[in-house]
Amino acid sequence: MEQNIEKKKRIFSGMQPSGELTLGNYLGALKNWVGLQDDYECIYAIMNMHAITVRQDPAELRKRSMEVLMQYIACGVDPEKSVLFFQSHVPAHAELAWILSCNTQMGELSRMTQFKDKSQKHADNINAGLFTYPVLMAADILLYQADLVPVGNDQLQHIELTRDVANRFNFHYGETFTVPEPYIGKAGARVMSLQSPENKMSKSDPNPNGYIWILDSEDVIIKKFKRAVTDSDTEIRPGADKPGVTNLLTIYAAVTGKTVEEAAAEFAGQGYGTFKMAVGEAVAAELAPVRKRFEELSKDKAYVEEIYQKGAEIAGYLAAKTLRKVYKKVGFVAR
Ligand code: TRP
Repeated sequence: MEQNIEKKKRIFSGMQPSGELTLGNYLGALKNWVGLQDDYECIYAIMNMHAITVRQDPAELRKRSMEVLMQYIACGVDPEKSVLFFQSHVPAHAELAWILSCNTQMGELSRMTQFKDKSQKHADNINAGLFTYPVLMAADILLYQADLVPVGNDQLQHIELTRDVANRFNFHYGETFTVPEPYIGKAGARVMSLQSPENKMSKSDPNPNGYIWILDSEDVIIKKFKRAVTDSDTEIRPGADKPGVTNLLTIYAAVTGKTVEEAAAEFAGQGYGTFKMAVGEAVAAELAPVRKRFEELSKDKAYVEEIYQKGAEIAGYLAAKTLRKVYKKVGFVAR
């Protein structure tokens, strides 16, 4: 009974539209998002405003943003259950980011490891947006009074900053924001490169055999798994000394819903060839319906547009409510 009366907790998350999504995004985030839809009120956005902190080709960005939205849906994010929208469609993100930037210290932002990494990588374009990126991210989350934010490890520092800024604001101006917590999904979904398993699977991998696109064909997926790096012994077991095999077991476990130990037991005594083939087939079978759904969505522009328009409307309504409260708290004259 209790549970029925209790309001569902709210989840907010998003990805930058930087190219096609990989098996790493799928197993590390999207599959998680899908599973949360029944128990939480979920809001998932496409962070196109964050994307322009590095130089983008405008036509490409527009195209990829649409594709990422369609990939969310193709992976099982259900527009009937979750709110889906483009960050740039809700101006309150930029507006709250300004207020929060006046409540964030230069020193805090200078400590962000992502800023340090990215300013090294893009030394010719260390723009102010790259520096204030975490403030915009805090605005994304706080606007919706989110309780939980599913993110990867690389974003935990940004969530920590969001919490600090929220607490500080609440302290100075009175209770305004829900202080969010990171939502750490089930273990084992950290997917590494198939070619250099000490690195995270990434679409910027110079070797395309290192990553699986969510939309790769079955043949390509199986071929990439056949070529996956293992090691020179023959034992199928997880271990720090066996990063390639461990990664394949992790992937297999995540796709089949088994534990890594169960997966290892299933393949005990078998050869690497059979093992890699089985993992490839499991992944191909998991992603086949995703690709099919994506192709259907690509042909139905009107439906996709309806989803993001509706999403922007709902998100805009929720965000405006928080922003009104914030404007009042900081002493802006009501209009
Ligand atoms: N910074 C996140 C990433 O690169 C993307 C992001 C932007 C985000 N705003 C967010 C994630 C708010 C969760 C919540 O992965």
